Amino acid sequence: MTITPEPTTTTATPLPAWFRHDRFGMFVHWGLYALPARHEWVMNEERIPTDQYEKYARYFEPDLYDPRAWARSAREAGAKYIVLTAKHHEGFCLWDSALTDYTSVHTPAGRDLVREFVNAVREEGLRVGFYYSLLDWHHPDFTIDGHHPRRDDSTEEIEALNAGRDMSRYREYLHGQVRELLTNYGQVDYLFFDFSYENDHHQPVWGAKGASDWGSEELMAMARELQPGIVINDRLDIPGDVVTPEQYQPDRPMEVNGREVAWEACQTINGSWGYFRDNSNNKSADLLVRMLVDGVSKNGNLLLNVGPTGRGNLDPVAVRTLSEIGDWMTLHSRSIYGAGASAFQAPADTRYTQRGNRLYLHLFAWPFEHIHLPGLAGKVEYAQMLNDASELTFREIAPDLQAFNTGMGGQPAGTLTLTLPVVRPNVAVPVIELFLTEE
Ligand code: GLC
Repeated sequence: MTITPEPTTTTATPLPAWFRHDRFGMFVHWGLYALPARHEWVMNEERIPTDQYEKYARYFEPDLYDPRAWARSAREAGAKYIVLTAKHHEGFCLWDSALTDYTSVHTPAGRDLVREFVNAVREEGLRVGFYYSLLDWHHPDFTIDGHHPRRDDSTEEIEALNAGRDMSRYREYLHGQVRELLTNYGQVDYLFFDFSYENDHHQPVWGAKGASDWGSEELMAMARELQPGIVINDRLDIPGDVVTPEQYQPDRPMEVNGREVAWEACQTINGSWGYFRDNSNNKSADLLVRMLVDGVSKNGNLLLNVGPTGRGNLDPVAVRTLSEIGDWMTLHSRSIYGAGASAFQAPADTRYTQRGNRLYLHLFAWPFEHIHLPGLAGKVEYAQMLNDASELTFREIAPDLQAFNTGMGGQPAGTLTLTLPVVRPNVAVPVIELFLTEE
């Protein structure tokens, strides 16, 4: 039974087993940006000055906020952890921070929404993660740069604005807030910082910020001291425990300096992280299941995002999509949890995930009656459809056998040929479970 070696982290800290086992998490982008409902970067895209943007805090009244319902939808979809944006680039905080009044407590909501979130997530038996934005377009000491809503002001105006700003004071604030989140809410399993752009060669901007601006080494050390088992991502511009590709599917296991590393792709349902009323560019549940499977077949996790509305509830598309993913996970989750890449070469339009001596063949396209599996001859003792445990027969066809009428010709040596039902099972992705022989 060939097992591929476990990918490492890029830090000296071993990755907690749960992260590699659970494979599927839910991301929640929620903040004042849910009110304009035009993307979480609306303040940047529409160059809205801070004093004008602050109006949204007066109207933030999420009367339908029910984090238990969020957590239940996540659990029923098969997600095992949830990461909430405690503070996004707009600078608004969903918890009762002692370091600013720009929080949910000072809005019609009038309470600590993170507190209720962590309680609900734990009640549903899921793990807790926080997203924390390193950028802060509200903080008076965060200097204007190429990502800031005021980036197109005149040079004189920007110089005047930046003259009064002190990033060391902002750093103190940033560290203080992260300390609050990692001290006041019990065990935190995952910390998703976002983002450094000093070394962003894809989208370079002026005044770009990175590790020295955030005090990243101290920040990471503090987080580990406060939460020893925590997983920290790779966006502090110093090595993290997990690499976080975003809105694209890696085409192979991810590597850093030639070493395979743990990774997690964060994906949206419609391209926007924050609730975007008029955006209906929705991925189907089928596609999202294929993205989950594809990632696991390359030793990666999927962090699937939802953007609750300004009322605090999940929109119908998110609820339906999660539910449909849950329908598939109910029948197929053992091909995901605790599974990873296999050393066997998967045929075209399929993916392998492996968990010990169980090899899962995920069929992205349904072939007619037969599928040929290179290298598996003599290695499989039993095969079944995973959705209903119905047995599948298999055989080896001698390489030199000539095709004749209905008689199929031979397959390359070592190939195992499975016979499939003509009718494709009615699931997002049909999966065949192969029981490998003990070597
Ligand atoms: C990017 C987006 C940000 C989002 C994050 C999620 O950095 O700019 O809005 O929160 O990705 O990974």
